[in-house]
Amino acid sequence: MKILFIGDIVGSPGRNMVSDYLPKLKEKFKPQITIVNGENAAAGKGITEKIYKEFLNLDVQAVTMGNHTWNKKEIIDFIDDAAYLVRPANFPENNPGKGIIFVKVNNIEVAIINLQGRTFLDQHDDPFRKADELITQAKKRTNIIFIDFHAEATSEKQAFAWYVDGRVSAVVGTHTHTQTADERILTNGTAYITDVGMTGPYDGILGVEKEAVIKRFLTNMPVRFEVDAKGRNQLNGCIITIDKTTGKSTNIERILINDDHPFFG
Ligand SMILES: [Fe+2]
Ligand SMILES: [Fe+2]
Repeated sequence: MKILFIGDIVGSPGRNMVSDYLPKLKEKFKPQITIVNGENAAAGKGITEKIYKEFLNLDVQAVTMGNHTWNKKEIIDFIDDAAYLVRPANFPENNPGKGIIFVKVNNIEVAIINLQGRTFLDQHDDPFRKADELITQAKKRTNIIFIDFHAEATSEKQAFAWYVDGRVSAVVGTHTHTQTADERILTNGTAYITDVGMTGPYDGILGVEKEAVIKRFLTNMPVRFEVDAKGRNQLNGCIITIDKTTGKSTNIERILINDDHPFFG
Protein backbone atom coordinates (compact mmCIF):
# COMPACT_ATOMS: atom_id res chain seq x y z
CA MET A 1 0.00 0.00 0.00
CA LYS A 2 1.24 3.45 -0.88
CA ILE A 3 0.58 6.74 0.85
CA LEU A 4 1.27 10.04 -0.88
CA PHE A 5 1.81 12.99 1.45
CA ILE A 6 2.07 16.63 0.40
CA GLY A 7 3.78 19.13 2.73
CA ASP A 8 2.25 22.38 4.04
CA ILE A 9 0.19 23.87 1.21
CA VAL A 10 0.66 27.65 1.28
CA GLY A 11 -2.12 29.87 -0.09
CA SER A 12 -3.37 29.88 -3.67
CA PRO A 13 0.11 29.23 -5.17
CA GLY A 14 0.24 26.00 -3.16
CA ARG A 15 -3.34 25.02 -3.97
CA ASN A 16 -2.70 25.61 -7.68
CA MET A 17 0.39 23.37 -7.54
CA VAL A 18 -1.70 20.62 -5.94
CA SER A 19 -4.47 20.82 -8.54
CA ASP A 20 -1.87 20.90 -11.36
CA TYR A 21 0.35 18.06 -10.16
CA LEU A 22 -1.77 15.75 -8.02
CA PRO A 23 -3.27 13.91 -11.03
CA LYS A 24 0.25 13.42 -12.47
CA LEU A 25 1.64 12.23 -9.13
CA LYS A 26 -1.25 9.78 -8.73
CA GLU A 27 -0.64 8.44 -12.21
CA LYS A 28 3.08 8.00 -11.56
CA PHE A 29 3.03 6.57 -8.00
CA LYS A 30 -0.49 5.05 -7.80
CA PRO A 31 -1.06 5.78 -4.08
CA GLN A 32 -4.15 4.31 -2.41
CA ILE A 33 -4.25 7.22 0.03
CA THR A 34 -3.32 10.88 -0.39
CA ILE A 35 -2.84 13.09 2.68
CA VAL A 36 -2.04 16.81 2.58
CA ASN A 37 -1.06 19.29 5.28
CA GLY A 38 -3.51 22.20 5.03
CA GLU A 39 -2.52 24.44 7.96
CA ASN A 40 -1.40 27.26 5.60
CA ALA A 41 -3.89 26.66 2.80
CA ALA A 42 -6.01 29.81 3.30
CA ALA A 43 -3.85 32.87 2.51
CA GLY A 44 -0.92 31.34 4.40
CA LYS A 45 -2.61 30.74 7.76
CA GLY A 46 -5.41 28.30 8.55
CA ILE A 47 -8.01 26.64 6.34
CA THR A 48 -11.59 27.38 5.26
CA GLU A 49 -14.40 24.90 4.68
CA LYS A 50 -14.36 25.71 0.95
CA ILE A 51 -10.65 24.89 0.65
CA TYR A 52 -11.03 21.72 2.75
CA LYS A 53 -13.78 20.56 0.36
CA GLU A 54 -11.65 21.47 -2.67
CA PHE A 55 -8.97 19.09 -1.37
CA LEU A 56 -11.52 16.29 -0.92
CA ASN A 57 -12.74 16.91 -4.48
CA LEU A 58 -9.18 16.30 -5.68
CA ASP A 59 -9.49 12.81 -4.14
CA VAL A 60 -7.48 13.64 -1.02
CA GLN A 61 -8.38 11.28 1.84
CA ALA A 62 -7.18 13.36 4.80
CA VAL A 63 -6.05 16.91 5.63
CA THR A 64 -3.66 17.38 8.56
CA MET A 65 -3.03 20.65 10.38
CA GLY A 66 -0.61 22.25 12.86
CA ASN A 67 -0.01 25.40 14.89
CA HIS A 68 -2.10 27.47 12.43
CA THR A 69 -5.20 25.27 12.91
CA TRP A 70 -7.35 28.03 14.44
CA ASN A 71 -6.14 31.01 12.37
CA LYS A 72 -9.30 31.08 10.23
CA LYS A 73 -12.01 31.33 12.86
CA GLU A 74 -14.65 29.64 10.68
CA ILE A 75 -12.90 26.31 11.26
CA ILE A 76 -14.46 26.22 14.73
CA ASP A 77 -17.89 25.98 13.07
CA PHE A 78 -17.12 23.16 10.64
CA ILE A 79 -14.29 21.09 12.15
CA ASP A 80 -16.57 18.75 14.09
CA ASP A 81 -18.39 17.86 10.86
CA ALA A 82 -15.18 17.54 8.82
CA ALA A 83 -14.60 13.78 8.99
CA TYR A 84 -11.25 13.93 7.19
CA LEU A 85 -9.69 16.93 8.92
CA VAL A 86 -7.10 16.03 11.59
CA ARG A 87 -5.68 18.63 13.98
CA PRO A 88 -2.88 18.04 16.53
CA ALA A 89 -4.11 15.41 18.99
CA ASN A 90 -2.21 16.96 21.91
CA PHE A 91 -4.17 20.24 21.85
CA PRO A 92 -6.18 20.80 25.09
CA GLU A 93 -8.88 18.17 25.71
CA ASN A 94 -11.70 20.69 25.32
CA ASN A 95 -10.71 21.76 21.78
CA PRO A 96 -13.07 20.94 18.90
CA GLY A 97 -12.00 18.53 16.17
CA LYS A 98 -10.01 15.31 16.41
CA GLY A 99 -6.38 14.23 16.37
CA ILE A 100 -6.88 10.75 14.90
CA ILE A 101 -9.06 9.49 12.07
CA PHE A 102 -9.44 6.14 10.31
CA VAL A 103 -9.68 5.95 6.52
CA LYS A 104 -10.69 2.76 4.71
CA VAL A 105 -9.44 1.94 1.21
CA ASN A 106 -9.99 -1.46 -0.48
CA ASN A 107 -10.98 -2.89 2.91
CA ILE A 108 -7.70 -1.77 4.47
CA GLU A 109 -7.96 0.64 7.36
CA VAL A 110 -5.35 3.35 7.91
CA ALA A 111 -5.03 5.44 11.09
CA ILE A 112 -3.97 9.03 10.48
CA ILE A 113 -2.65 11.00 13.44
CA ASN A 114 -1.52 14.61 13.76
CA LEU A 115 0.67 15.71 16.70
CA GLN A 116 2.52 18.93 17.46
CA GLY A 117 5.97 19.27 18.98
CA ARG A 118 6.65 21.57 21.93
CA THR A 119 10.14 22.93 21.29
CA PHE A 120 9.84 26.59 20.14
CA LEU A 121 6.05 26.10 19.86
CA ASP A 122 3.07 26.36 22.23
CA GLN A 123 3.24 24.11 25.29
CA HIS A 124 0.50 21.61 24.52
CA ASP A 125 0.19 18.14 26.10
CA ASP A 126 3.15 15.78 25.77
CA PRO A 127 3.05 14.46 22.18
CA PHE A 128 5.14 11.38 23.09
CA ARG A 129 2.72 10.09 25.71
CA LYS A 130 -0.26 11.16 23.61
CA ALA A 131 1.21 9.03 20.81
CA ASP A 132 1.39 5.99 23.14
CA GLU A 133 -2.31 6.40 23.88
CA LEU A 134 -3.31 6.84 20.21
CA ILE A 135 -1.15 3.97 18.96
CA THR A 136 -2.84 1.65 21.48
CA GLN A 137 -6.22 2.89 20.25
CA ALA A 138 -5.27 2.51 16.56
CA LYS A 139 -3.72 -0.97 16.94
CA LYS A 140 -7.11 -2.37 17.94
CA ARG A 141 -8.18 -1.65 14.33
CA THR A 142 -5.10 -1.60 12.12
CA ASN A 143 -1.32 -1.95 11.86
CA ILE A 144 -1.10 0.89 9.35
CA ILE A 145 -0.53 4.10 11.28
CA PHE A 146 0.59 7.37 9.69
CA ILE A 147 1.73 10.33 11.82
CA ASP A 148 2.22 13.94 10.69
CA PHE A 149 4.49 15.28 13.44
CA HIS A 150 4.27 19.06 13.18
CA ALA A 151 7.33 20.48 14.93
CA GLU A 152 10.14 22.99 14.69
CA ALA A 153 13.15 21.25 16.22
CA THR A 154 14.94 18.49 14.31
CA SER A 155 15.99 16.88 17.59
CA GLU A 156 12.39 16.60 18.80
CA LYS A 157 11.32 15.14 15.46
CA GLN A 158 14.12 12.55 15.45
CA ALA A 159 13.49 11.66 19.10
CA PHE A 160 9.80 11.20 18.40
CA ALA A 161 10.41 9.04 15.33
CA TRP A 162 12.81 6.74 17.19
CA TYR A 163 10.41 6.60 20.13
CA VAL A 164 7.64 5.18 17.94
CA ASP A 165 9.90 3.21 15.54
CA GLY A 166 8.34 -0.16 14.77
CA ARG A 167 5.01 0.82 16.30
CA VAL A 168 3.82 3.04 13.42
CA SER A 169 4.24 2.91 9.66
CA ALA A 170 5.44 6.45 9.11
CA VAL A 171 6.41 9.68 10.84
CA VAL A 172 6.59 12.63 8.49
CA GLY A 173 7.72 15.98 9.82
CA THR A 174 6.01 19.22 8.81
CA HIS A 175 6.08 22.91 9.86
CA THR A 176 9.55 24.19 8.89
CA HIS A 177 8.53 24.53 5.21
CA THR A 178 11.99 23.37 4.15
CA GLN A 179 12.46 19.84 2.86
CA THR A 180 15.19 17.75 4.49
CA ALA A 181 17.16 15.07 2.63
CA ASP A 182 17.17 12.52 5.47
CA GLU A 183 14.32 10.26 4.38
CA ARG A 184 14.90 6.68 5.54
CA ILE A 185 13.36 3.56 7.01
CA LEU A 186 14.30 3.34 10.71
CA THR A 187 15.62 0.00 12.00
CA ASN A 188 12.23 -1.32 13.13
CA GLY A 189 10.33 -0.37 9.99
CA THR A 190 9.04 3.18 10.45
CA ALA A 191 9.45 5.49 7.46
CA TYR A 192 10.81 8.87 8.51
CA ILE A 193 11.68 12.31 7.15
CA THR A 194 12.44 15.29 9.38
CA ASP A 195 10.49 17.70 7.16
CA VAL A 196 8.57 17.09 3.98
CA GLY A 197 8.80 20.78 3.08
CA MET A 198 6.08 23.01 1.68
CA THR A 199 4.00 23.40 -1.43
CA GLY A 200 3.67 26.98 -2.65
CA PRO A 201 5.96 29.88 -3.46
CA TYR A 202 9.48 28.88 -4.51
CA ASP A 203 11.12 32.32 -4.45
CA GLY A 204 9.70 33.63 -1.18
CA ILE A 205 10.84 32.93 2.40
CA LEU A 206 8.89 29.96 3.81
CA GLY A 207 6.10 31.01 1.42
CA VAL A 208 6.05 34.69 2.37
CA GLU A 209 7.11 37.61 0.10
CA LYS A 210 10.85 37.90 0.66
CA GLU A 211 10.98 41.73 0.68
CA ALA A 212 8.79 41.88 3.79
CA VAL A 213 10.83 39.27 5.65
CA ILE A 214 14.12 40.98 4.77
CA LYS A 215 12.68 44.33 5.90
CA ARG A 216 11.70 42.74 9.20
CA PHE A 217 15.27 41.53 9.77
CA LEU A 218 16.72 44.91 8.78
CA THR A 219 14.40 47.06 10.89
CA ASN A 220 12.97 44.87 13.70
CA MET A 221 9.69 46.69 13.03
CA PRO A 222 6.26 45.15 12.40
CA VAL A 223 5.77 44.14 8.77
CA ARG A 224 2.76 42.65 7.01
CA PHE A 225 3.55 39.13 5.76
CA GLU A 226 1.75 38.14 2.54
CA VAL A 227 1.96 34.89 0.59
CA ASP A 228 4.33 35.42 -2.36
CA ALA A 229 1.86 35.04 -5.20
CA LYS A 230 3.94 36.60 -7.97
CA GLY A 231 6.91 34.27 -8.31
CA ARG A 232 7.56 30.66 -9.23
CA ASN A 233 6.04 27.77 -7.30
CA GLN A 234 7.06 24.38 -5.94
CA LEU A 235 5.55 21.15 -4.63
CA ASN A 236 7.13 19.13 -1.81
CA GLY A 237 5.96 15.72 -0.74
CA CYS A 238 6.86 12.09 -0.22
CA ILE A 239 5.59 8.67 -1.19
CA ILE A 240 5.70 5.84 1.32
CA THR A 241 5.33 2.11 0.61
CA ILE A 242 3.90 0.05 3.48
CA ASP A 243 3.43 -3.72 3.92
CA LYS A 244 -0.32 -3.88 4.42
CA THR A 245 -0.17 -6.86 6.82
CA THR A 246 2.65 -5.86 9.15
CA GLY A 247 2.24 -2.09 8.81
CA LYS A 248 6.03 -1.74 8.41
CA SER A 249 7.35 0.52 5.67
CA THR A 250 9.66 -0.71 2.95
CA ASN A 251 10.37 2.55 1.12
CA ILE A 252 10.13 6.32 1.39
CA GLU A 253 10.89 8.60 -1.50
CA ARG A 254 11.03 12.41 -1.47
CA ILE A 255 9.07 14.39 -4.03
CA LEU A 256 10.46 17.78 -5.03
CA ILE A 257 9.02 19.66 -7.98
CA ASN A 258 10.20 23.14 -8.99
CA ASP A 259 12.01 24.84 -11.86
CA ASP A 260 15.31 23.40 -10.66
CA HIS A 261 13.84 19.90 -10.22
CA PRO A 262 11.29 19.40 -13.01
CA PHE A 263 8.69 16.66 -12.79
CA PHE A 264 9.10 13.61 -14.97
CA GLY A 265 5.99 11.44 -15.23
FE1 LIG B 1 3.18 25.39 7.88
FE1 LIG C 1 3.24 25.14 11.27
